[in-house]
Amino acid sequence: MKGADMFITKAVVPEKERKPLYTDIMALPFGETFTDHMFTMEYTPGKQWHDPRIRPYGNLSLDPAAVVLHYAQEVFEGQKAYKNPDGEILLFRPRENARRLNESLKRMCMPPVPEDIFLEAEDALLREEARWVPSLPGASLYVRAAVIATEAAIGIRASRSYLFFIICSPVGPYFKDFSPIRVRISSTFVRAVDGGTGEAKTGGNYAASLLATMEAKKEGFSQVIWLDGRQRRFIEEMGGMNIFFVQGNTLLTPPLSGTILHGITRKSIIEMSGDCGLTVKEERLDAREVMESITRKEITEAFACGTAAVISPIGAIAFEEREETVSQETGPVTQKLYKALTGIQYGTAPDPYDWVHKVTS
Ligand SMILES: Cc1ncc(COP(=O)(O)O)c(C=O)c1O
Repeated sequence: MKGADMFITKAVVPEKERKPLYTDIMALPFGETFTDHMFTMEYTPGKQWHDPRIRPYGNLSLDPAAVVLHYAQEVFEGQKAYKNPDGEILLFRPRENARRLNESLKRMCMPPVPEDIFLEAEDALLREEARWVPSLPGASLYVRAAVIATEAAIGIRASRSYLFFIICSPVGPYFKDFSPIRVRISSTFVRAVDGGTGEAKTGGNYAASLLATMEAKKEGFSQVIWLDGRQRRFIEEMGGMNIFFVQGNTLLTPPLSGTILHGITRKSIIEMSGDCGLTVKEERLDAREVMESITRKEITEAFACGTAAVISPIGAIAFEEREETVSQETGPVTQKLYKALTGIQYGTAPDPYDWVHKVTS
């Protein structure tokens, strides 16, 4: 079975039984509405990946002893499909997601999904779900691919069978407006440690982050900034996003040291920074020094970035006993990068880096 030659069995929902489209996409809660179809493909020993299918969206049937349910052997990817002004469907750097999926799979002792199969499956599903891809600025069709361990085995070992699936969810903006958020640096909880799974996009990392975020929200913060697990000193990420600080014309961001997810938005910002008149320093960022630099007005903007929110401006940061305001308004560098990135993603600006993949009909 090879990429474009892959034979996908299709069982589509009859036209008149399809779900009604959203009425106001901007008001939809993020990730709670799903389209008519999904893609599935199975892995069993000896047969490898087989039975690629597009079928009606619906429940999966899993043995209660399935390894994923007990030991969280799972990885996933998150992408967005956009419609350009000509109504064509665009994906942003999907091969990067295919590569990262395989890095995560390797870490979790799971079999690789050939990149071309991943890409072809995604295109085929998006062709089927074209009507769900919104054309409004800020809206998109979120594409969630995942691989789960399906073998019934309550012994701690890697599963021998797996399911790969892709589902889609129409979404408006992740944060309802583009105004800066108030966040807290967590001194209590960490997201990842050296030698752990921080670099993998695996469900357990996110389950482990819920309590910190829930407690921060109770105190009026939108998100948590994570420190390194060893010294609780260096800034790593914010929630499910990478983080940048703006100092003059320089973007400061922590290096990918093994505990940070290799964000594709982060990578894109770094690659386009020169063309935006910015330089990037990937260096360890001591949280206390960052707070000092904000007080001294050397750091004038901060933002987090990721597929879901694209860029999320940070207005105020609390750490230990103090809170510092970075900027009340979304700063010019954050705005410039947001505009440049979304212009390419939505196909409203040229794509000099060849990042956009067009889903052909
Ligand atoms: C922990 C974490 N960091 C960073 C990111 C940003 O990655 P990307 O830009 O590829 O969406 C994500 C989202 O996928 C994430 O879950």
